[in-house]
Amino acid sequence: MTVREEIDLKSFIRHIPDFPKPGILFYDISTLMRNPDAWQMAMGRLARQIAPLRPDVLAAVESRGFLTAAPLADRLGCGMLMLRKRGKLPGRTVSHTYDLEYGSDTLEIQEDAVLPGQRVVIMDDLLATGGTLAASATLLRKAGANVVGASVLMELTGLGGRARMDGVPVTTLMSYE
Ligand code: PRP
Ligand code: MG
Repeated sequence: MTVREEIDLKSFIRHIPDFPKPGILFYDISTLMRNPDAWQMAMGRLARQIAPLRPDVLAAVESRGFLTAAPLADRLGCGMLMLRKRGKLPGRTVSHTYDLEYGSDTLEIQEDAVLPGQRVVIMDDLLATGGTLAASATLLRKAGANVVGASVLMELTGLGGRARMDGVPVTTLMSYE
């Protein structure tokens, strides 16, 4: 990806100070999603990053991971599954509690969500502390998945989240210090 391409996509991200708490700068993808050309460009670039990983299934992290996983599963011709917050999934589940950039949360996966050894790429909007993606990888491995990558729209590189991924390669469209 060239510097020019990265600057173009970043220009569609709105920065909102003090949300959801004072001192937090929120990177809002609503302004990217509402522009059809920019959103389509972003999905095309995600597809080119993820295709070489040859996923069988994309794992969508609730809630903003749903936004990229569904169009990408359609583009790549693979399946998708949901990693949901506590109490939302029916049937037998496995859960994991993790720290967020602000607060903590619990993610769950259906016990039978993947077949043993299936190649799974985790999809979310943002890599911040890495708590969410690391918890997602843990859950997926418990369910028998082969976690071959993680894909985000944006990465906050200064928080060191990538180092928590235990060797799982993470691709991003936009990086922020
Ligand atoms: C945000 C964001 C990522 C996560 C990144 O989700 O969408 O999932 O935090 O932070 P981390 O790398 O420090 O874990 P959030 O849980 O706020 O909820 P949402 O996606 O449902 O809005
Ligand atoms: Mg999220």
